[in-house]
Amino acid sequence: MPKLNENYLNLQDSYLFAKINQKVTAYSKEHPDHKIIRLGIGDVTLPLGSHIIDELHAGVDALGSADSFKGYGPEQGYEFLRNAIVEYYAEHGVSIAADEIFISDGAKSDTGNITDLFAQDNVILIPDPVYPVYVDTNIMNGRNITYIDANAENNFLPMPDKNIHADVIYICSPNNPTGAVYNHAQLQDWVDYALANQAVILFDAAYECFITDSTLPRSIFEIKGAKKCAIEFCSLSKTAGFTGTRCGYTIVPKELVFTASNGSEMSLNAMWNRRQTTKFNGVSYIVQKGASAVFTIEGMAQCKENLAYYQENARIIAETLSKKGIRYFGGINSPYIWFECPQQMDSWQFFDYLLTNVQVVGTPGAGFGKNGQNFFRLTSFGSRENTIEAMERFKKLF
Ligand code: MLT
Repeated sequence: MPKLNENYLNLQDSYLFAKINQKVTAYSKEHPDHKIIRLGIGDVTLPLGSHIIDELHAGVDALGSADSFKGYGPEQGYEFLRNAIVEYYAEHGVSIAADEIFISDGAKSDTGNITDLFAQDNVILIPDPVYPVYVDTNIMNGRNITYIDANAENNFLPMPDKNIHADVIYICSPNNPTGAVYNHAQLQDWVDYALANQAVILFDAAYECFITDSTLPRSIFEIKGAKKCAIEFCSLSKTAGFTGTRCGYTIVPKELVFTASNGSEMSLNAMWNRRQTTKFNGVSYIVQKGASAVFTIEGMAQCKENLAYYQENARIIAETLSKKGIRYFGGINSPYIWFECPQQMDSWQFFDYLLTNVQVVGTPGAGFGKNGQNFFRLTSFGSRENTIEAMERFKKLF
């Protein structure tokens, strides 16, 4: 009999969004005539831009001719896409080399897979509430997690505690689920703390494209010293509507080097390269062709049109909450609106209340950690029509 990874016994019985799905499916089976509006999982609804579609088609066509056919591609991603990302960062004043960029099927996989690079006995620092993947993947590996509280008192932007030592630190900004965004000075404090602790920051920038305030950092690499202590994850899921198409990237600076117990130097860039070439065969050529169109002038303009649409949805949701006198966070520089559950309900009670009374699905804050117990998350990724209708239904409550 195999000895199983019993760390799985320490996980919640199902992944947050799977649990929500089960509840919604059960409800809709019982009430087939009710129109359910889903503002729970952050899944986009607008179609891909036409420039991306054209490049996806070009990718398909290339595979149909012997002279342009592609078999296995580079595990790290095609040069054309890595170079396009180099340019994208340069436009935001950040200099990254192409061989520091690794193309993948998305930030969810990479933020989970990166745990392969770290030993068991690290102090893992994770804010609470947080995107559940960081917590679950560390539990799967049997690691102990130290949580730091993100709450209304610190505007859901916890700062480092110099009395706590950490080896691996997770930061997500703009934050999922709270929508909070760190400014330069705050991120500088985290980088200084990481450097002082010889720690590594795992920086999830999946929502950077929602930042409209030009004073806010979109990349950890805008911060002095970050290349010596940070890895950045990014994704085209929200930037370009790739939640189904799947493409993201991870930046591992070559300056990120730590000393092993035998005194040798270990480069995280080299380790990640070794890991990816062993366990991953890269993203399909077709998808990378489509992804490269995101970084063209026309492609980015189309993505920005879609982003503006979601930003307007966020504004509509925020306006409704304001009118109801409900305290909320996020919604600006973020697709998520995070608010206090009305009438002292806890977040799963409020989930059931919304589903059964007005058939609107959101995400209970408790699914992101104990500090989310009395909070609820709505996403702006629905259609305009559904967002407006959900808010009309919401207005009639309590
Ligand atoms: C969310 O709703 O938190 C995200 O869509 C999940 C994800 O990106 O994996």
